Amino acid sequence: MTAALSVLPLPKRARIGVPVYTCSAVFDAIAAVGHIPVFLDIELDYYTIDPAPLAKSKDGLDALVAVHTFGHPFDFDAVRTACGDIPIIEDCAHAMTAEYKGKRIGSFGDAAIYSLRPGKLLGSGGGGMLVLRNPDLAKESSLESKMSHSSRGRLFIHYLQAMAGGMLNRSLSALDSRPDSSHMKIGRMTPGDLALLERRLPSLPSIVAAHRRNASALLNALSGGTFQLPLASRAVTHDYYLFALRFHSENGRARAQARLQRAGIGAFQLYRVALEKARAHGYRGDCPNAETAARNVVMLPVHPKVSEVAIGMMSDQLSQFRDVDR
Ligand SMILES: Cc1ncc(COP(=O)(O)O)c(C=O)c1O
Repeated sequence: MTAALSVLPLPKRARIGVPVYTCSAVFDAIAAVGHIPVFLDIELDYYTIDPAPLAKSKDGLDALVAVHTFGHPFDFDAVRTACGDIPIIEDCAHAMTAEYKGKRIGSFGDAAIYSLRPGKLLGSGGGGMLVLRNPDLAKESSLESKMSHSSRGRLFIHYLQAMAGGMLNRSLSALDSRPDSSHMKIGRMTPGDLALLERRLPSLPSIVAAHRRNASALLNALSGGTFQLPLASRAVTHDYYLFALRFHSENGRARAQARLQRAGIGAFQLYRVALEKARAHGYRGDCPNAETAARNVVMLPVHPKVSEVAIGMMSDQLSQFRDVDR
């Protein structure tokens, strides 16, 4: 993200719109390059950026970071309409193969970033991947000079010479073999990280397939419960990196999470702390949907190691659960 923000032509102290319901590393990245995060609300159906409040703040924005939260692509067309022609950076940390209107995410914005941090879909040794729409910006010399101040030097730069339809699909599948130097440059990722990444790349389709299979099993098993299951817009193919279950209250969430944890299920919360950290960057608590999600959502594990038995246990625990605060 620091690389994307450094290389895009933005004014000094640019105002960067960002959903407040996301990883606080994004806010830190914006601040680290001297820009100012402007916090925006999400829509509760998909936990992605809400175009309506965005349209109201667009005049004060120089660029937008929008996140494909939990693997669900944000509504790019609605977001583009809402924010006008400022640069959009797609944050693909939660999604690698997800599609929006039949095209893979990462191919819509002016830039897209991916995380290779352990625990992510393609978690390896660390580092990340940057995709830029404008090939001139992606020249390594330009990136190197702009990145020289960055402490996060490990970078795996993947740039596209053209962003014609389907290009990204081809490029990403090319990663399954050895990187092709005609459209990919390798920066300072360590050889060990790169070797690990190359070993994991061929498994990406099966990793995502496992997330989707587990999510689908949970969607079937949990229908009819006293909570909101994750929704998927008809315009998208969801990667289900995370499976977000929303309760009617913080208390309901706490009791459900405790019940799952007693049964040995690693259900976890996200972004409560991120919202607190956002306050240090000027967030004023004025994003009600983000506040609701941070209070009431719990993540169920859907990673490839989750077994059918574990899905059954989650289903048993949650089918006995009643959200009394409803
Ligand atoms: C949505 C989102 N964006 C960005 C990041 C930062 O990724 P990295 O730690 O690889 O820089 C994360 C990390 O968890 C994330 O969840």
